Formats: sequence, C-alpha cells, structure tokens
Amino acid sequence: MNNFQESCFSVLVLLVLLLQGSCSDPGVVHKAVGDSLELIADYPTDGLEVQWTYNETVFAEFDEANINLVRPKLFHKRLKMKKDSISITVEDLELRDSGSFSIIANTNAVQYPTKIIMLHVHELIRDVQIEYSDSWLQSENICTFHLRCLASGDPNPSYSWSGHQIQTQGAYLNISLRPAESATLTCTANNTYSVKYTTETVVCREKSEGQRFCIKMNA
Ligand SMILES: *[C@@H]1O[C@H](CO)[C@@H](O)[C@H](O)[C@H]1NC(C)=O
Ligand SMILES: *[C@@H]1O[C@H](CO)[C@@H](O)[C@H](O)[C@H]1NC(C)=O
Ligand SMILES: *[C@@H]1O[C@H](CO)[C@@H](O)[C@H](O)[C@H]1NC(C)=O
Repeated sequence: MNNFQESCFSVLVLLVLLLQGSCSDPGVVHKAVGDSLELIADYPTDGLEVQWTYNETVFAEFDEANINLVRPKLFHKRLKMKKDSISITVEDLELRDSGSFSIIANTNAVQYPTKIIMLHVHELIRDVQIEYSDSWLQSENICTFHLRCLASGDPNPSYSWSGHQIQTQGAYLNISLRPAESATLTCTANNTYSVKYTTETVVCREKSEGQRFCIKMNA
C-alpha cells in the first residue's frame, strides 16, 4: 500500500470503530419498584446466539431455539422468557436490580453491536396526606394549625407547600388564621422519578358567641 491508500484505510477503520462505539452507548432506563424490564434480542433467528448479562455476569443464553438460565438464582423466579420474540423480562423490579444489563448477539457471520441498558430503579411515591393539629390562642384571637405532609412509598422524598401566599420547603408548616379566615394549601412530595400532591382547606370558625374553633375541610 502507498501512503495515500494507507491513510484512507486507517480513516475507514476509525470510522467503523466510532460507529460501533456509538451504537453500544448505554441507554439509561428509569423504572419504578414493581415495574418490568424487557430485554429483547430482535435479530433474525438463523444461527443466532445471544447472551444476556447483568453487571457483566451472564445470566441467560439463547442457542438455536431455547433460552436457558445460566444463573437461576440471580433474579430468583422473576424472569419471564419468550422464545418467539427472543426476550427476557425481569418482573417485579427491586431497588437492588439497578445496574447494567447487556444483550450480546451474534451468528457465525455477524457480531451485532452490544445493547447496553443502564437501569435505575426508583421508589414510587404512592400517596400523600396532610396530618394536622390545631389550637386556639384566646389572647391573640387566632387559630394556629400545625400541618404535616406525609408520603408513602418512598421513605425520603422532598416536600414543599404552596397556596395562601406560601411557598416553602419541608414536611411541616404552621399557619395562623383570624376568625372566619380560611386557607387552601397544597403539599407536594417528589423524588427523582415521581411526584404526588394533595390539597386541603383549613378554616378558623366561630362556634358560638365568644368561642372559636379551628377545623380542617377537604378541598
Ligand atoms: C450492579 O451494579 C450496580 C452499579 O454498579 C450496583 O449498584 C449494584 O449493586 C450491582 N448489583 C449487584 C447485584 O451486584
Ligand atoms: C410549628 O410550631 C411548633 C410549635 O409551636 C414548633 O415546634 C415548630 O418548630 C414549628 N414548625 C415550623 C415549620 O415552623
Ligand atoms: C424533587 O424535585 C426537585 C426539583 O425538581 C429536585 O431538586 C429534588 O432533588 C427532588 N427530590 C428528590 C428526593 O429527588
């Protein structure tokens, strides 16, 4: 080869390497606890061999016509195999399933680009409630509400309050109202994956002459 041919050849090799590199870029996938992750090897089946790995450990293989579990303990009974679509589904995802999955496929003639899936499993915020206690401050003629926002599903979400010209972070909120005043407040709980909110109205109401009491009403 002369110099010109040589440099053309290396540019070509570089291009091929770059293209392969970009094809195997990891796809980041976010899922909630309890979701499923399907790992499909959608290639022509003739002479196909497939390996599925988790954190670089092979846990299943497809060979000729069957999918075999190599590490049956890894996802313990949470794997569903479909021979016709050559896919494995990890069901009922858990937080600890977060990690790197890959699908490596080839025939005698073709090595397909490896598919890499970076899985992040998150807790899902399921429900948000507002708990409260109240008190009547006779000397100042005000109702004080001590509100607490409480989410279930994720033990550590972010909380924020809004409404009644309030915009604040944190699970707790104190609010004082004069008689006959009311406030409609929304509490929001979020994590990186999900968000839920709930709204309540609190009212400072006169019960009878000279007697006040503080109540909460559903919005
Ligand atoms: C898999 O790798 C991820 C990220 O490196 C890690 O957080 C996770 O614990 C690993 N899973 C197992 C079962 O080793
Ligand atoms: C709300 O009031 C209670 C009792 O007065 C106090 O202990 C608490 O720190 C207050 N919380 C906020 C968020 O202001
Ligand atoms: C809630 O959302 C905010 C704003 O998008 C974000 O900064 C915060 O990290 C989220 N909270 C959690 C626990 O991920």
